[in-house]
Order: sequence, then C-alpha cells, then structure tokens
Amino acid sequence: MARVEQSTFICTENADEAGPTNNWMAPKEMYQKLRGYAAGSMQGRTMYVIPYLMGPPGSPLAKVGVELTDSIYVALSMGTMTRMGSVAFEQLGGEDDDFNRGLHCMLDVNPERRYIAHFPKDNAIISVGSNYGGNVLLGKKCLALRIGSYLGRQEGWFAEHMLILGVESPTGEKTYIAAAFPSACGKTNFAMMQPPAQFKGWKVWTIGDDIAWMKPGPDGRLYAINPEAGYFGVVPGTNSKSNPGAVEMISRDTVYTNVALTPDLDVWWEGKDGPVPKECLDWKGNKWTPDSKEKAAHPNSRFTAPMTNNPMLAPEANDTQGVPISAIVFGGRRGDTMPLVYQAFNWVHGVYIGATMGSEMTAAAVGGAGQVRRDPMAMLPFCGYHMGDYFRHWINMHKTIKNPPRIFHVNWFRKNSQGEYLWPGFGENMRVLKWIVDRCHSRTDAIESALGWVPGPGSIDLTGLAGFPPERLDELQAISEDEWRKELIMQDELFMQLHNRLPKELIFQRELLLARL
Ligand code: GTP
Ligand code: SPV
Ligand code: MN
Repeated sequence: MARVEQSTFICTENADEAGPTNNWMAPKEMYQKLRGYAAGSMQGRTMYVIPYLMGPPGSPLAKVGVELTDSIYVALSMGTMTRMGSVAFEQLGGEDDDFNRGLHCMLDVNPERRYIAHFPKDNAIISVGSNYGGNVLLGKKCLALRIGSYLGRQEGWFAEHMLILGVESPTGEKTYIAAAFPSACGKTNFAMMQPPAQFKGWKVWTIGDDIAWMKPGPDGRLYAINPEAGYFGVVPGTNSKSNPGAVEMISRDTVYTNVALTPDLDVWWEGKDGPVPKECLDWKGNKWTPDSKEKAAHPNSRFTAPMTNNPMLAPEANDTQGVPISAIVFGGRRGDTMPLVYQAFNWVHGVYIGATMGSEMTAAAVGGAGQVRRDPMAMLPFCGYHMGDYFRHWINMHKTIKNPPRIFHVNWFRKNSQGEYLWPGFGENMRVLKWIVDRCHSRTDAIESALGWVPGPGSIDLTGLAGFPPERLDELQAISEDEWRKELIMQDELFMQLHNRLPKELIFQRELLLARL
C-alpha cells in the first residue's frame, strides 16, 4: 500500500557511486538473488509484455521501456500511466535497442522477498515481492527518476520529482512553472489548481503532476516535458472543494487502490463529497462503520486516471520540445520554521534551498510518518546516484542554461500554536503563485530577508479571503531564530553524511545564511 524504501536498491559497481542515501548491492549479487526468486515464479500465471513510451511521441527527450509482469493491475495501470503499445516501438525505430529492461514478479508479496532493484549501467530494473504502484509501475519512480537521474547527469539534463503547470494571465500570457514537493505534499493539487473567483481571467493548466524531464533549449532556457500520461494520485481528501478538477477526472476510467467499498459497489474515502456511508468494507476488506477507530481508506490509497480526463490539461502536455520553465519552486510539509514563500537570491542559493529542504514524512512510504527528514529537491527516495554528485550536477547545469528559472521555496503547511493550518491552501495557493509569476516578469516588489526575497507589503493579494486577518501573513512569514538554529543543525547532518562529495558552494551558502541570520 506504499513505497518500501528499505527494499529499494541502486546496484552500481561501487557503493560510493550510489552514495550514503541509497541502499546498495553489487549488481552481480543482486542479479543472482532476484533471478533465483524470479525463476519459475510465473508458472501457471499470465505474463504481460508491456512496451511503453515515457514522454510525447517523437520527443527527443522521450524514452522507451519494456516491462514484463505477472500482475494484471500493473498491465492496466501502465496503460493509463504511460503511452503503451506500438507507439513505443515506433519511437525506438528499426534496430535501436536503447530501451529500459523491466521485470516485475509479484511472488507471494512477501516483504521478506521484496526488492526494487535498479541497474543503471544496464538500463535495467527488477522488482519482486510487491504490487504497489510506486514499487511496480516501473516507468514512474524507477525509470523516470532513479534511472533517469543517472542518465540525466551523464547526458546533461534533469530528471526531477516535479509537477509542471502553466499559468495563463487575463492577457493570455503563459508562464510555466515546475515545483518539487515531497511525496504526498501537494503536487497533484497544485498542478490542478482552480484560482479563486476574484482572479478573473487567470487560469492554471496542468502539464504534469509528478515528474519533469528538463533540458536546456537552444534559446538558453530550460525546457520541460512530463514523461507520464496519467496521474497516480492520493485519494483521501479529494473533493469538489479541495480539487474539483480531480473529482471530475476520477469519475470514470479510473483504477482505485486501497479505498473503501460501499454496499452498492461504489468507492469511498475519508474526505469524499457527500454523506459518510453507514457501513462499508474498509481497504483490508473488513466491515467498517463510522464508529470504527481505523480509517476506511488507507491514507495512501490512490487513483490511476488518464491525463486526458483532466479538464485543465494543457495542450502543451504533448509538445515534443516541452515548455520553457520560468520558475522552479521547492516546498516541504513543515508545521513550523518555513515561511509561506521566499525567493532565492540566485541559482546557487536556490540549489542550496532545494538541497537542504526538509519535510514531514507521509503515508506515501512505509514507516516514519510525521517525522521531519531532509528530502533534497524531494528526491531523497528517487535519486539514482550519490546525492553529493547530484548537487554538483545542479550547480554545473547553470553554465548550460543562459536564462535560468528563478527559484522559490513555499510551505502550505505552517501551523499556529493550536496546531491549525495558518494558510487555507489548495485554490488559495493562487495568491502565492501569482506573486511568483509576477516576480518572474519583474512586475512586483520584494524585500530582502535573511532567507531570501520575500513579498513586499501588500504584494500578496488577500482580497476576498474570508476569515483571514492580514496580520496572519506576518505569522506565516515569521523567521524564528530558535527554529532556524535547529534547522541549521538538521541541515548539517545531511551535509556531514555527504561530506566527501558535497560541493563547496553549498557550504559557503550555509555560512552566508548563518551570517545573515
Ligand atoms: P505524490 O503523488 O505522493 O507525489 O503526492 P503529491 O505531492 O502529488 O500530493 P497531493 O497533491 O496528492 O497532496 C497530498 C496531500 O496533501 C492530500 O491529502 C492533500 O489534501 C494535501 N494537500 C495538498 N495541497 C494542500 C494545501 O495547499 N494545503 C493543505 N493543508 N493540504 C494540502
Ligand atoms: C510518491 O510517493 O511520490 C508518489 C507515489 O508519487 S509513488 O508512485 O508510489 O511513488
Ligand atoms: Mn510523487
């Protein structure tokens, strides 16, 4: 029902290449072990052969994979999440064998024999012993991020855990933004946002909700494609107030996992529109009533829906060249410390902000929910090589991007002393997004703070935001010396872990921040 990070391995020749934030095993040893498990395991079952394309057909950024699986769930889901079928072979052309080799065997879904193993040098993935999306839909986190990030470093591009959206202004101007938030921290919701009523003429278009492949274009800007063709999204909390577009999108053609089942064979989850059912079967198949202590739907229950069902889908989602990115936004789930929004002073400062990102763990991965951990660029579970080298790649890429995106940090999850969210979030995030867009076009002012540029007085539009006293914005933007002392110590733990490959630039950025604070 969730990704299993302790079973996820990067199998490079040397352990140091995978780095201290990944599990490692030598390729030879892992192949031997997993081929042993796989041998004969599909006897009497159906094996599906899934050729798939990641990215728009004909895109120079697109990649091909073939996944073998004994799971009908995987076969159906890959048909939604990727461009599946002959389109993959057409992309490959006649003799080309440059495709990812994927093998998935459910075995007896026993955690003792569960491995999600990546072989970057062979462009190969073997996943055994599980049947949850993130572990087994091999195009997604395995190919598009872990193998993708490894290839991206060699070939000069980025594979990132980012949504991509387009903001259209009343004059028709379109600004494209990529945002990295950790698992279950708001990417799908942000990518499908519907602006509040007073933002007349403003529209947000979705290009992607989870993954961005980005490469510098001939004009010196960074261009992004969404390699996926569907959304594998968090179900609980999805309703017509939080995400009306998603409600429409998942009303048909959708595979649900680990939700509750009502007596009339409909699906149900906590936070769904309409009345709470008097009884249903919970995600484990047990009888559930509103008095039950456990949740009816698993907190990480998911929908798999085709992007073509998204009423906000941007036509550019099929552009072979991708869209030019004006801003990169980093953001974690933080009850304290982190302001609603600030902007990096420059690229390296932005890389530092992304690299030191922290976030409370969520139900998207097994174990540890609620604890703050460092999750650099939201890539901790998804970077296919040494995290220190990954930071170096980010810094080096600046040289190849003449007009780099501006970099921002947001936090929708700051709480007051009563433990209530200070910011209404969801569609109201448009108010922050508009400031970001205006900053990209040099249309609004900002003032310098210790952390970075912050909105000047009145530059975040709060009109029509009922029950939100303007002083609350000060509370949301507050920089607490106590909290930042703790924050810097937590950042240091990551830096010490990566010390032998940590770029000096980031150490200097830390010193500068300390001095400003
Ligand atoms: P992954 O698919 O795991 O990568 O998640 P994601 O980053 O796409 O997160 P998603 O948009 O599915 O949101 C995850 C959870 O955060 C859901 O329970 C949402 O209801 C909640 N959430 C999303 N946006 C906001 C927000 O602006 N404010 C608050 N308070 N909660 C939010
Ligand atoms: C995430 O955990 O970031 C997800 C869901 O998007 S999974 O595909 O399981 O990784
Ligand atoms: Mn994700």
